[in-house]
Amino acid sequence: MFLLPFLVLTFSLVFVLSHQTALLAPITKDHTTHQYTIQAHLKTPLQPTKLLLHLGASFSWLDCYQNYTSSTFSHVPCNSSLCSSLHSLACSNYYSPPGPDPACANDTCALFPENPLTRKATLTNALLDSLALPTTDGSTQLSQLGGLVPDFLFSCSQTSLLQGLAKGVAGLAALGRSNFSLPVQVSRSLSLPRYFALCLSGSRSLPGPVFLGSSGPYFFNSKIDLSKSLIYTPLILNPVGSTVITYYLQPSDEYFIGLTLIKVNGKAVPINASLLTVDENGFGGTKISTVDPYTVLETSIYKAFNDLFVKEALGLNLTVTANTVEPFGVCYAGKDIMSTRVGPAVPTVDLVMQSDDVFWRVFGSNSMVRIERSDADVWCLGFVDGGPHARTSVVIGGHQLEDNLLQFDLESKRLGFSSSILVKGTTCANFNFTSTSSKRIVK
Ligand SMILES: *[C@@H]1O[C@H](CO)[C@@H](O)[C@H](O)[C@H]1NC(C)=O
Ligand SMILES: *[C@@H]1O[C@H](CO)[C@@H](O)[C@H](O)[C@H]1NC(C)=O
Ligand SMILES: *[C@@H]1O[C@H](CO)[C@@H](O)[C@H](O)[C@H]1NC(C)=O
Ligand SMILES: *[C@@H]1O[C@H](CO)[C@@H](O)[C@H](O)[C@H]1NC(C)=O
Ligand SMILES: *[C@@H]1O[C@H](CO)[C@@H](O)[C@H](O)[C@H]1NC(C)=O
Ligand SMILES: *[C@@H]1O[C@H](CO)[C@@H](O)[C@H](O)[C@H]1NC(C)=O
Ligand SMILES: *[C@@H]1O[C@H](CO)[C@@H](O)[C@H](O)[C@H]1NC(C)=O
Repeated sequence: MFLLPFLVLTFSLVFVLSHQTALLAPITKDHTTHQYTIQAHLKTPLQPTKLLLHLGASFSWLDCYQNYTSSTFSHVPCNSSLCSSLHSLACSNYYSPPGPDPACANDTCALFPENPLTRKATLTNALLDSLALPTTDGSTQLSQLGGLVPDFLFSCSQTSLLQGLAKGVAGLAALGRSNFSLPVQVSRSLSLPRYFALCLSGSRSLPGPVFLGSSGPYFFNSKIDLSKSLIYTPLILNPVGSTVITYYLQPSDEYFIGLTLIKVNGKAVPINASLLTVDENGFGGTKISTVDPYTVLETSIYKAFNDLFVKEALGLNLTVTANTVEPFGVCYAGKDIMSTRVGPAVPTVDLVMQSDDVFWRVFGSNSMVRIERSDADVWCLGFVDGGPHARTSVVIGGHQLEDNLLQFDLESKRLGFSSSILVKGTTCANFNFTSTSSKRIVK
């Protein structure tokens, strides 16, 4: 009888928390590989784990062959509804050694985790274990491990799948539009709205946040809630995925958007419009990628874009250098370019979506890359040639995403974008992760 009011109180507290609190994770850039990694806590007891951030992947994966010690992992039986909703193509039937083994069990649902950089895949089994992330109210980190998903589903992988990933990375965090991506599992497990928002930081020391299960607010150490000033464009479904192991008739879990025009200084780049639509085989169109360091353009678009940019920059008295720095095609002497609060003063680039007034503005901080070494001191146009047969015509890459807030609204299937938040006097690195000390200064 004494327990009853206590229980009611506990339940109402849980209710209140789940409706005001979202989850959060820090994303750090590895400047050697240009990869973005997310930190999560996994297993029991919880262990900090670095995972490659991949916006387009269907499910997360983790090396299970090194250091997998946990008291809470469990396998997924082949003949289970969970295994069938995973669209698993195989069932593992290993003879288990004595005692539970994460990477080896009889009758266990099998998956093909993939490394997006090497495009290698392995056959391993699905696993369930605990995942914990910080909680947030949108302006600061409330707790480091307060958001617990007790039965997070991912795939094991062999250690060899880690080849090409940054030092210390133990797997991959999938943020794709599938039912088993990290944000969708977080929202399902904690009854949070199916939204996540990403703000990549290019800083060498300070991370940027990803907010999971929150449609806002998003504060970056300023009075401005960035969720209030987003512009929206529909997310487009690509009917054919391009995974290494092809899942028959499975649509892509990557995020495609309807780019219709690229402008430089307000002038349109001449582009064959059919390259910008996704055809029935999944070719063409525009996607967003966190595993491509720079935006990749199909060759004819790349050439037309470079030509117009060079012409418009000439109008600002900027003359290209004789030599360029790989992998870029257009560079300017560092001393020739003045800087502004949105980066080097160069022609602005607009990515125009469904109508003329829906455009993503790219200023110098996102269009140009500074290269300072013994043999060069230049600013280069940070777009690269994807070749004449590129599967996707425009792949918006990491450098163009930094210090922009992107909100993925999986309920209404739309993307909200802020354009450069430097315009608002803040940066992605300004999010207040620390609950007490550590000052963060607007750069
Ligand atoms: C495994 O864990 C030990 C102790 O935590 C650590 O010293 C070692 O580097 C880890 N090995 C790998 C491959 O992660
Ligand atoms: C599991 O297998 C049994 C026998 O093969 C079958 O009757 C049952 O429907 C299966 N269960 C599921 C969840 O697929
Ligand atoms: C493996 O699982 C299958 C199907 O459940 C069962 O028939 C078989 O006996 C199991 N083998 C071992 C070694 O446990
Ligand atoms: C994802 O889950 C929803 C709701 O459970 C279901 O209707 C849909 O078919 C699932 N999608 C895939 C690709 O399995
Ligand atoms: C435009 O691109 C499509 C698809 O690549 C091609 O079939 C067509 O010939 C191109 N049109 C022009 C005018 O180049
Ligand atoms: C470019 O340089 C010329 C000659 O030095 C000068 O007359 C002109 O005003 C400059 N234009 C701009 C946009 O700076
Ligand atoms: C970060 O948030 C904490 C409260 O959670 C606050 O004490 C601290 O002053 C904040 N830091 C900055 C730089 O605003």
